[in-house]
Amino acid sequence: MCGIIGYVGMRRAVPLLLDGLTRLEYRGYDSAGLAIHQGDTFSLQRRVGQVENLTAAVDGALPGTCGIAHTRWATHGGVSEENAHPHLDTHGSVAVVHNGIIENMGPLKSRLERLGVVFRSQTDSEILSHLIGRLYAGDEGEETRADPVAAVRAALALVRGTWGIAVMFHDRPGVIVAARNGSPMVLGIGDGENFLASDPHALVTHTRQVVFLQDGELAILDASGVQTFRAGALTSPAVHILEEEWGGSELEGFPHYMLKEIHDQPEALRQCLSGRVLAQDGTAKLGGLDLTPRELVGIRQVGLIGCGTAYYACQVGALAIEQLARIPATAEIASEYRYQNPCVAPDSLYFAVSQSGETADTIGAIKEIQLKGGTVMGVINVVGSTLARACGRGAYIHSGPEMAVASTKAFSNMVAALSLFALQIGRTRALSVHRGRQIAESLQRVPELVEKYLADPGPIDEAVALVSHAKLALFLGRGVSSAVAAEGALKLMEVAYVPSIAYPAGEMKHGPIALLEEGSPVIVIAPGDVHRDKTMSNLHECRARGARIVLIHTEGDDIAEQADVAIAVPKTLDLVSPLVTVLPLQLLAYKAGLVLDRNIDRPRNLAKSVTVE
Ligand code: M6R
Repeated sequence: MCGIIGYVGMRRAVPLLLDGLTRLEYRGYDSAGLAIHQGDTFSLQRRVGQVENLTAAVDGALPGTCGIAHTRWATHGGVSEENAHPHLDTHGSVAVVHNGIIENMGPLKSRLERLGVVFRSQTDSEILSHLIGRLYAGDEGEETRADPVAAVRAALALVRGTWGIAVMFHDRPGVIVAARNGSPMVLGIGDGENFLASDPHALVTHTRQVVFLQDGELAILDASGVQTFRAGALTSPAVHILEEEWGGSELEGFPHYMLKEIHDQPEALRQCLSGRVLAQDGTAKLGGLDLTPRELVGIRQVGLIGCGTAYYACQVGALAIEQLARIPATAEIASEYRYQNPCVAPDSLYFAVSQSGETADTIGAIKEIQLKGGTVMGVINVVGSTLARACGRGAYIHSGPEMAVASTKAFSNMVAALSLFALQIGRTRALSVHRGRQIAESLQRVPELVEKYLADPGPIDEAVALVSHAKLALFLGRGVSSAVAAEGALKLMEVAYVPSIAYPAGEMKHGPIALLEEGSPVIVIAPGDVHRDKTMSNLHECRARGARIVLIHTEGDDIAEQADVAIAVPKTLDLVSPLVTVLPLQLLAYKAGLVLDRNIDRPRNLAKSVTVE
C-alpha cells in the first residue's frame, strides 16, 4: 500500500527519492509525490499514476539534499493530485507524508475548520500537516513553538488511528521528524546521510544498517545522526543489519515479476527446506520456533491466521497438522478473527502467516491473541517485519523478495514451512518414523518436481482460451485441493480480473451448480489422493450441465481423458500435492492476464502489503 521514503545528507535528494519510490512501486499505489527542502520553503510535486509521471514532472536538477516522498493508495478521497502526498499546512511551513488512517478525522477537521483552516484535499492525512503546522507555529501554545519533535508529538497525541509519518519544517533544513504507530517505519543509517522508509526494501541499495521504529516512537534525523524518543524521553535505538537475501528483486530477463517468481519456486522451496528436514528421523526442525519435543507434546490445538493467499496456505497447513499430529487445527481469516472475541486457549499454539509481515488485519489478530494470553509464532517471509518482531519467535519461509502483487512463491513456501511443522509435531505423537520418512523424503523431492513441471507445463494456453472470456470460472477441489482451488480462483481474479469462485467440490451441488451453462469453465483439481474418485463424480456432474473442464491431475492417471483440457502434474504424497497442483493455476492466471492485457505485476486497486484494515 502507501510507501514512504525520506533522505537527508549531502547528495541531491531527488534521484534518491525517485529511486526509492520505484522500489516501493510493487506495494501498489495510485499517485506519487515528493517535497524537497529548498532554502526556507519546499519544492513540491505530486502526480496521479505511476512514479514515472512524477519523474517527468520533477526538476531533476533540484539541488536540495533533504526530502520526503510518498506513493499513495487511496483510502480517504479519490485518486487526484490534491489528495496525493506530501501535504503542506496553510502557510507551507511543514510538509507531511503519512501512511495509515486517522480515525477521528471528523472532529479534528471540524475543529480546524472552525479555526479558519481551509482544507485542500479530502484526505485524513492533511489534518496532520495542519495540526503540526499550528503547534510548530505556537498557535496552540508556547511549549511546542519551533520545536519539531514536540510539535509532532503533541499533534499525534490528538490523533486516534495508525500512522507512519515523515515531516519536514520550512526553517529546519536538513531535518526530518518521523513517527510510527501501527504503520511501519524504518530508519536507514548511512555515512554522513540518513534515510527513512516504510519498507526496508527501499533502503537496501544505500545501507543495510537500520533501526525499526517501534509503535509510539518518534525520531529526528539529520545528516549526522538519528535520535529516537518515547513519551518525550530519548531511547537507545537498536541497530539491525539487514541480511542479504537470496532471490534478487530484479526481473532477471523475465517479462514480469509474477512469472519470475513462479520460476523461483524450486529454489525458494530449497531455501525453505534446507537444513530443516531430518530425513533419517523422519521429522523436521524449525529452529526459530525453539520448541522442545516436550513443549510440542503439550500443544493441544493449533490456530493458523492469515489473509488472502496466506489464509489458503493456512488451510493446507491446518489439514496437514490434523492429519499428522491428530490434534485440532483451524485456519482463520485474520480480519474476521480479530473481532470475533476468539476463545484463546493457553495450550494452543497460533501461527501468524504472512508474506509481508505488515498485513494490518493479521497484526490486529495476533494482538488480540497475545492480549488473551495466547502464544503466537510467525510464519513470515520478510525478515524483521512488524509481525516477525511482534511474534518474537517463528519460522521465516525464505521465499526471497516477492515483488508481484499476486503471491506465488510465498504460498508455496508457507505451505512447505507449515508442512514441516506438521511433520515435526506429528512425530511427537502417533506419526511413525516410517511414515515420517516418507513425508520428509517427499518434501525434499518437491523442488525437483516443481522444476520438472515448470520445464513442461502442459496445455496451459488451451485452458486460458476456456477461461479468459468467461463470465465466471468455477474452481473445485476436495481436501487440500479445496484450498488450492481457492488459491487458483484468487489468482485468476486478481491478475486477469476474470470473476472466479472456488468451492469444495462436494459443496458445488448445494448452490454454485446453478451457475453452470453451456461452455462454463470449471477447473477441477483432482490429484491421485483419497478424494480423487469423489471429485471426479463432481466433475461429471458439471460436464453433464455443459461445463468445459480443465482438470489438474497426477501424471499417468487415466482420468485425463474425462476432461476438455487435462494438465498433468508430477506424482507426490497427498499432503504435498498443493506444491505441484498450484503451479498450473498460477500459470493459468498469469497467461490469462497476458491475453487480456492486464497489468500483471500491479493489478488495479490492489496493494502488495495491505497495511490498513
Ligand atoms: O503479506 P501477506 O501474506 O500477509 O498478504 C496477505 C494477502 O494480502 C495476500 O496474500 C493477497 O491476497 C495476495 N495479493 C494474493 O495474491
